[in-house]
Amino acid sequence: MLKVGIIGVGTVGASVANILKDNKDIITARAGTQIEPVLGVVSNLKKDRDVSIKLTDNIDEVLNDESIDIVVELMGGVEKPYEIVKKALEKGKAVVTANKALLAYHRYELQEIAGDTAFEYEAAVAGGIPIINALREGLTANNIETIRGIMNGTCNYMLTKMINEGVDYDTILKESQELGYAEADPTFDVGGFDAAHKLLILGSIAYGIDAKPEDILIEGIENIEPADIEFAGEFNYSIKLLTIAKKVGNQIELRVHPVFIPNDEMIAKVDGVMNGVSVIGDKVGETMYYGPGAGGDATASAVIANIIDVARRGKGSPMLGFKTPNSEKLSLMAKDD
Ligand code: NAP
Ligand code: HSE
Repeated sequence: MLKVGIIGVGTVGASVANILKDNKDIITARAGTQIEPVLGVVSNLKKDRDVSIKLTDNIDEVLNDESIDIVVELMGGVEKPYEIVKKALEKGKAVVTANKALLAYHRYELQEIAGDTAFEYEAAVAGGIPIINALREGLTANNIETIRGIMNGTCNYMLTKMINEGVDYDTILKESQELGYAEADPTFDVGGFDAAHKLLILGSIAYGIDAKPEDILIEGIENIEPADIEFAGEFNYSIKLLTIAKKVGNQIELRVHPVFIPNDEMIAKVDGVMNGVSVIGDKVGETMYYGPGAGGDATASAVIANIIDVARRGKGSPMLGFKTPNSEKLSLMAKDD
């Protein structure tokens, strides 16, 4: 049996605990052992929640419990989860996280601290789509030429409703929060930062780029005007927040910004909370990945896949992770080039 402690039992954490219970039989069969969620951490123990896991508000109870094999970090933030994940790894616990903000700032340090201990993060990019698995395992024979896609479910949900149904910005942002799509601080979504965090993770896996959000061009959807939406509709275009990594010679361009896209392009048809990512490899050509980019159960699906993977490979299995910076002699293109 593998015991799991979940730090953060909100939208995603509650889904993880509930799915581990609902799908216990198939998960046990696939993991080759029983996966038992034994303790969850929240900040407010008085909140009503529909989750069947013992709760505490003391993070150390999870970190100091020697019987807990896997720590699942789902609380969000950067510096506090960094300290928690670091401690868990130093204690030899495997870690699974969905926290892209944490990885945008600390992925290389955490990779080093993890060493030979499993550390996984599939849910950090594009929610339920196994895009990290595709890049780390399925496409490794290729030089990756471009990664281009919609990687923020909140913005895509908002833009779809604004364009197709004329819903106003504030109403639809509130709805995205109620549906559990948005970050605790939704500025991360609408400002393009969340998509940028995801891009930095993919940039390290595909190219070994060790950059921070402030090093890349980021523009969100806040400045899209009703006139832009009208213009898009008139010419049969959509507006999408695109996340783009492109290899240009020995340089890698990383950027996030809204783009007008003709409605007959595949990426323009990715609507609502769905994400869509196109990856072009020099040998395989274009591959496309589509699925729910946010939401409790969809994200938990990716988190649990990592937990099952840790069970199969063992806690002491090195992560197939971020390429060493400069290992492929590629550098980040300056953001104002
Ligand atoms: P959430 O609903 O806000 O849940 C956060 C949980 O962490 C809550 O249970 C909260 O406690 C707990 N928490 C926060 N600070 C804490 C502290 N200092 N001590 C103890 N507990 C604390 O967030 P979420 O949407 O589940 O997201 C969790 C992580 O997954 C984030 O890193 C997010 O970026 C990532 N993610 C989310 C989605 C999504 O669709 N929501 C998708 C992919 C990745 P209370 O419940 O008491 O407030
Ligand atoms: N807030 C994020 C989004 C959650 O809307 O895409 C999934 O990473």
